[in-house]
Amino acid sequence: MNRFIEQLQKKIKQKTVKVSILGLGYVGLSLLIRLNQLGLKCYGIDLDKRKINLLKKGKTYNNFFKKESVSKLKTKAVFSSGYQNISKSDVIIICLPTPITKNKDPDMTSINHANNSIQPYLKKGQMLILESTTYPGTTDEIFCEKLSKKFNLGINFFVSYSPERIDPGNDLNRLETTTKIVSGYSRNCTKLSKNFYKSFLGKVHEVSNLRTAEFTKLYENIYRSVNIGLINEMKIICDKMNLNIYEVIEAAKTKGFGFSSFYPGPGLGGHCIPVDPFLLSWKSKEFDVQAKFIGLSGEINDSMPYFVLNKIIFALNKNNKNIKNSKILILGVTYKKNIDDIRESPALKIINLLQDNFSNVQYYDPYIKKITLDNNKILKSTKTITNFKTFDLVCLVTDHDKFDYDKILKQSKIIVDTRGKFNSKSSKVYIS
Ligand SMILES: NC(=O)c1ccc[n+]([C@@H]2O[C@H](COP(=O)([O-])OP(=O)(O)OC[C@H]3O[C@@H](n4cnc5c(N)ncnc54)[C@H](O)[C@@H]3O)[C@@H](O)[C@H]2O)c1
Repeated sequence: MNRFIEQLQKKIKQKTVKVSILGLGYVGLSLLIRLNQLGLKCYGIDLDKRKINLLKKGKTYNNFFKKESVSKLKTKAVFSSGYQNISKSDVIIICLPTPITKNKDPDMTSINHANNSIQPYLKKGQMLILESTTYPGTTDEIFCEKLSKKFNLGINFFVSYSPERIDPGNDLNRLETTTKIVSGYSRNCTKLSKNFYKSFLGKVHEVSNLRTAEFTKLYENIYRSVNIGLINEMKIICDKMNLNIYEVIEAAKTKGFGFSSFYPGPGLGGHCIPVDPFLLSWKSKEFDVQAKFIGLSGEINDSMPYFVLNKIIFALNKNNKNIKNSKILILGVTYKKNIDDIRESPALKIINLLQDNFSNVQYYDPYIKKITLDNNKILKSTKTITNFKTFDLVCLVTDHDKFDYDKILKQSKIIVDTRGKFNSKSSKVYIS
């Protein structure tokens, strides 16, 4: 064991390790809060000055982070929009966005920008850990390649990959209760990162190399995307056969083995499931493999907002109404229930499609005050709904717990239900 390993090991053990976290979004800020609770010195770095200014004042920038957790950071953590504090840290954790372009290729702009910007502040004895979800090869090809020109990796500088698995809005799957996967550039890197995570998280699972860890995270999300694509296809077939997909799922679940239930919906949303599979299908082309399941599930899931639109048109027609000028209420615009996140939300697509079809569309979401439409116009959430009867049709897109479902069912003239919430025999409910 050389002195760099010994020193870092000692600091990890004594909990005196100083940590810089790059990117203070859902992943980075969650991690910073956890490390701060354990008394570790943390430097939070984000290019978004608005976030930094709020965090410096001990204020949260969205509902996902509890006020109490963030206010405690004011006196302990150091926030900046510059990278200089990296030189004071022992561990640098990268939690930056890894989106895809319009053509579904990886967009590594943030990662590349950060990789260039941090270089002047890196020094011997530090460990860099990438937590962003990304294609197999990123840590090696982007970070290690550059770092190996300056350091002897695994000897005087350490590099690891450890994907984040947080589930926003789900209190059961918290950071400290979810197993963390780790892998390193070398044995020393793996060992150090494993010890680091073990010092503040529950279980840590080691894999043999960086690419396996990167692949594992993508596989987890592809598994979800493919199964959601499958159940959405089953929903379309059930609809044609006049069967209730939710009754089929409940019956299939009774098997107790060899079956995991997934639920259909209005389309994929969020930062991960609609995006991550394409990071792998892009990379797999380099190996002459066309990832067919990824493409197919993506195609089915992307078609869901159009399925909802067609169901709305059908339900209105059946009730002698035309989509043109019909007053339609979209209930819920976030990509999943009980959170204030609209990234990639299918509700946005559905609202734009309804506007393209000349309907008078409004929305209500207790978590989102306004949205921006494709034509750049702002649409504000209806404040309160005294009577759902004033709408020709109500379409449930996000099943927030805050909604009064009995009232919605009682008052609405027509309901298009994309979440199986109104699984009643009522003739005014159309499953979509
Ligand atoms: N949100 C989730 O539920 C989740 C779960 C698991 C994994 N992930 C993955 O973790 C990564 C981060 O996701 P997130 O949801 O936290 O993203 P996010 O968009 O919420 O946050 C990213 C933050 O990085 C900042 N940023 C962008 N470029 C920067 C730069 N060059 N330097 C410093 N800061 C910069 C942004 O201002 C933003 O605050 C992504 O790869 C994502 O796929 C997300």
